[in-house]
Amino acid sequence: MVIHSAEFLKSSVSVADCPKANLPEYAFIGRSNVGKSSLINTLTGFKKLAKTSVTPGKTQLINHFLINKAWYLTDLPGYGFAKVPVAVKLLWEKMIKEYLMKRENLVCSFLLIDIRHAPLATDLNFMAWLGTNHIPFHILFTKADKLTFNKQQSAIAVYKKKLSGQWEPIPPMVVTSSETQTGKEEVLNLIESLNKEFELPNRTH
Ligand code: GTP
Ligand code: MG
Repeated sequence: MVIHSAEFLKSSVSVADCPKANLPEYAFIGRSNVGKSSLINTLTGFKKLAKTSVTPGKTQLINHFLINKAWYLTDLPGYGFAKVPVAVKLLWEKMIKEYLMKRENLVCSFLLIDIRHAPLATDLNFMAWLGTNHIPFHILFTKADKLTFNKQQSAIAVYKKKLSGQWEPIPPMVVTSSETQTGKEEVLNLIESLNKEFELPNRTH
């Protein structure tokens, strides 16, 4: 899929505040600093669309981007180790979970995981929560450029083994890098095919 346009629409504090739910939407979730905002920029090809930072906790609201004037991407705050007070972290978590449960045009979420990290309880718990609430998601491993191909393969094998104890089937996975653009086409193709499915029920005969 070719991206012709990508524009920041607005930052929202709650679902009620979000743009009209009339287009297919895809959310980026994951621990602070995992690379959510960077991947949005890489996928769209607009380098400064979503704000990124070396300091965890950069994204603090639900940010909507309108892509090709046809679908939305949302950049969310991270969970986990952002250097913000516990009360703020809890507020973010509440906002993210409420958004994921109530946003009716949300087609699929992307749960990002730093490929260098062994499976972490925060991520596994968040996945379990998504499963319990029937919220579809794909796992996107990030920062693949930081590992050799062989180390990527063994990191994925460790993750698959860990998840196979809890999931049947295990969630779909894509390896990505915002540095080298690995995985970009695969994720865009996935969104393209999901967009077509979203349109079906709305077609007039
Ligand atoms: P919060 O908004 O704080 O939750 O973080 P985030 O998940 O949006 O992460 P962000 O995109 O801001 O990236 C965090 C840091 O990781 C930045 O310094 C990025 O340059 C770096 N980074 C992100 N993706 C990649 C990648 O694929 N490869 C490498 N080498 N660095 C990356
Ligand atoms: Mg961010």
